[in-house]
Amino acid sequence: MRNSSAKCLFICSLLVTGCAADIFGKTYVEINSNLSAATTLTVHCKSKNDDLGDHTITSTRAWGFKFRPNFFKTTLFFCSFAWPNEFHRFDIYDENRDECTECIWTVFPNGPCKLNETRGIDFCYPWKASMQLGRKPLM
Ligand SMILES: *[C@@H]1O[C@H](CO)[C@@H](O)[C@H](O)[C@H]1NC(C)=O
Ligand SMILES: *[C@@H]1O[C@H](CO)[C@@H](O)[C@H](O)[C@H]1NC(C)=O
Repeated sequence: MRNSSAKCLFICSLLVTGCAADIFGKTYVEINSNLSAATTLTVHCKSKNDDLGDHTITSTRAWGFKFRPNFFKTTLFFCSFAWPNEFHRFDIYDENRDECTECIWTVFPNGPCKLNETRGIDFCYPWKASMQLGRKPLM
């Protein structure tokens, strides 16, 4: 293990500097809320290896976390998003989808939007389809 990562590091630093950044660089994911000021959003994110626990987000208080994406592009953080009468899921970081190292999101009622460098809306995603019965329409 130690030997193979040493070997990898050696090859990486020889061939591609960006590759070394892949191993050592941390990625930051931040979640903001665009729900009404009085609404508290509870977010719970997990990966295969980590459970980040419950965090509360309001329109004035974001929450973020840092991690090292893995070398094999399989890092995935999946989250639940709950606020009164609503419960949704979304993969907040998918190493295949997200090329960002600072991934800034804002949660709107209909789904999360990724922000660009100037915090303008870059792209909005729908919530993950849910099997839950009796869920409210996404409006
Ligand atoms: C939500 O987003 C809209 C449009 O981007 C913005 O005008 C509004 O101030 C935001 N509200 C909150 C609570 O963040
Ligand atoms: C960010 O998004 C906003 C709104 O969509 C856009 O006006 C702005 O040009 C974008 N900025 C960059 C750096 O892409």
